[in-house]
Amino acid sequence: MMPKAAPRQADQSVNGLFRLLGTEPKSLSRARPIYRRIVALLGDGITRGAVPAGHQLPPERDLAAALAISRATVVSAYRELEARGLVRGYVGRGTFVSATPDTASAPFAWRGKIAASALQANETTVRDLVRAASDPRLISVAAGVPALECFPTDAFQRAMTRVLATQADAAWRHGPTEGLQPFRVALADRFGGEPEHILVLAGAQQGLDLLARCLIDPGDAVIIDRPGYLGAIQTFRNAGARLVGWDIVGADTDELEELLLRYRPKLIYTNPTHQNPTGVTMPIRTRRELLELAARYRVPIVEDDTYRDLALTGAPPPPSLFALDEAHTVVIRINSFSKMLAPGLRLGWISAVRPIVEQLALIKQQVDPHTQNLSQMVIAELIAQGVLDKHLATLKSEHRRRRDAMVQALRQRVPAAQLRFGVPDGGMYLWCELPAGIRARAVQDCAVRESLMVLTGDPFYVDQGGDHQLRICYTSQPAARASQIAETLARSLSAAACQGGAPPVRVRMV
Ligand SMILES: Cc1ncc(COP(=O)(O)O)c(C=O)c1O
Repeated sequence: MMPKAAPRQADQSVNGLFRLLGTEPKSLSRARPIYRRIVALLGDGITRGAVPAGHQLPPERDLAAALAISRATVVSAYRELEARGLVRGYVGRGTFVSATPDTASAPFAWRGKIAASALQANETTVRDLVRAASDPRLISVAAGVPALECFPTDAFQRAMTRVLATQADAAWRHGPTEGLQPFRVALADRFGGEPEHILVLAGAQQGLDLLARCLIDPGDAVIIDRPGYLGAIQTFRNAGARLVGWDIVGADTDELEELLLRYRPKLIYTNPTHQNPTGVTMPIRTRRELLELAARYRVPIVEDDTYRDLALTGAPPPPSLFALDEAHTVVIRINSFSKMLAPGLRLGWISAVRPIVEQLALIKQQVDPHTQNLSQMVIAELIAQGVLDKHLATLKSEHRRRRDAMVQALRQRVPAAQLRFGVPDGGMYLWCELPAGIRARAVQDCAVRESLMVLTGDPFYVDQGGDHQLRICYTSQPAARASQIAETLARSLSAAACQGGAPPVRVRMV
């Protein structure tokens, strides 16, 4: 777009231009070769901002007359400036200085181009976690990763070969945004619900994002586990929600009712089974009371059921809120294969009433027309063949072995006064308490210097909290590494104890 012309006063004249340049026409006219001198002088004046963006250069004929040179020389000089992006000529209007470019050596200033709303996405914990988990130089017990060594690679490969031999066309074509019908049927058969009530996702985190965009207006209150899943906190906060914590360990429904009355929330988010990070499972009575309150106050519940199939003992957890809410009036459920199989699959799903599934699909197709077909087709086969259930049984015993090894190693190598934790009966985490004199950030800082990545408690809180808590994912590393991890942690705890209550150093992860 053509810049507005500067006012037609002296500015546009030859004298006006030279005043801005801080020199006189006669100094220029003595120099040779004149064409290069004009380009250099004007180019310099424009890049240092002396001749501002939008300034109209004198007509070529005027400058030529003032300098006693040919008009063709001035035309060439203006063309050269235009080729450098410094000015722009408009037929019949004149030549104008373009927006001031950065100095030639400075990189293009993209930072200044980012939308104000995007700049709010400045929480880095999840990015740092997944980066550390994929860094071969680090031993990470920070990100939530199941025992990947148990992944049914052979069965997966066979299923993929079969799918590509028989249904390659369906794999490579576009698929429906809601997900492939055979996969939705397989999910409904294995995990409950109706195929039409399922929206397939590129991971549970995508479901949280879609729900936030579907249900939350800026300023809406959201009740969320305290401590609660950090990815949900980040997503709901970014949507402009006012987050209110509900103590998930106490899970007192009287307290919840008070919060419902006081904050009139738009939704309740909870992860009631083998909860991340505490490992607690909500008892059946509390589940029923929670459902009753949600129905009475007409507040939807988003149930994150990601860890349901990761019990470590024989006894299955109580039914999901989604299953207890038989008519599916208030509960929306999120599931994922990240913890059952592998986070790298990026495959999950939402179960909700049809109108919500339709609205979520409309939002999803704006950023992700549909989830990858091939993985849906392969996992549908693995479910149908019973491979998934067999794998979950294998995972259960391997996770138990890893939990026991980690618990034993920590008990042997770390003084009990420096690290207190309960032994979970499911999920993937030890939720650890540090004494008042040891800050979690200082421990993280010391551990990462020894290439061990642990996660501090603070991102799990919607308010202050977590400064003296650590989350350790015991499933992500083989049992044989437990002693080494415990020793490093013991050293880090001692080093952090020496620092006492000193202000924490923010770890920069590479
Ligand atoms: C409770 C909970 N919900 C959702 C997720 C995200 O899962 P996904 O990898 O499927 O996006 C996690 C991952 O740690 C989680 O702990």
